[in-house]
Amino acid sequence: EQQFQSRQHLTGKKILISAGPTREAIDPVRFFTNHSSGKMGYALAEEASKEGAQVYLVSGPTSLETPKHVNRFDVVTAEEMFQQMNRLYGEMDIVISAAAVADYRPVEFHQQKLKKQPNNLSIELERTRDILEYLGGQKQDQYLVGFAAESQHLIEYGKEKITKKNLDAIVINDISRIDIGFQSDQNEVTFLTKDGKENHINQNSKNEIAKQILLFIDQELRKD
Ligand code: CTP
Ligand code: CA
Repeated sequence: EQQFQSRQHLTGKKILISAGPTREAIDPVRFFTNHSSGKMGYALAEEASKEGAQVYLVSGPTSLETPKHVNRFDVVTAEEMFQQMNRLYGEMDIVISAAAVADYRPVEFHQQKLKKQPNNLSIELERTRDILEYLGGQKQDQYLVGFAAESQHLIEYGKEKITKKNLDAIVINDISRIDIGFQSDQNEVTFLTKDGKENHINQNSKNEIAKQILLFIDQELRKD
């Protein structure tokens, strides 16, 4: 344990991590969001910092404490998350997009609280920007890692996301597993690289999973 800690795999590396959900407002009191707790992203930030990295954490709304020595930037919407990540992107060595970014937002923000009506209500949604796809398109030397939340065809859909977003690797979550993921302290994932290496990481605490993800990234970086 002591030896492992003192090796400090990521010393001198700058790492950008996104975490948590985003919120897309409907009116002053209501918004669309998702079940992300932010725990996986925060665990990555904590472990990367322990490994000696300079960590930049862009966080949607969560109830989590900022891990020690981590630079945290709070955002609310997908667009704010994009702006903040894009600002930091150029200087980074490693970027991990663990946030559960909303895919859609209401077309219209109602300045006044919507009053209930007798009939059904429809809210028109428009696509948000795909932050990771944009960053993939601008990639220079960054090692870029995405997350994928899938309920079926895990590896196939993971591979598609690697290609579409120009990623170096993706961490695939099986969201059909109700015992782990989202609000849980545990997770079980597959770390898939762009050259098709599938590394399964068995069920464990999110901090242990984070350590293993960072070890795989470090290994991949040492190859080239
Ligand atoms: N992502 C992003 N910006 C978005 C949506 C997703 O940066 N607007 C990132 C996530 O942080 C994650 C990766 O893209 O790292 C994959 O997210 P996921 O929701 O699994 O896939 P999508 O590409 O959004 O496709 P779908 O939800 O249809 O599976
Ligand atoms: Ca999505």
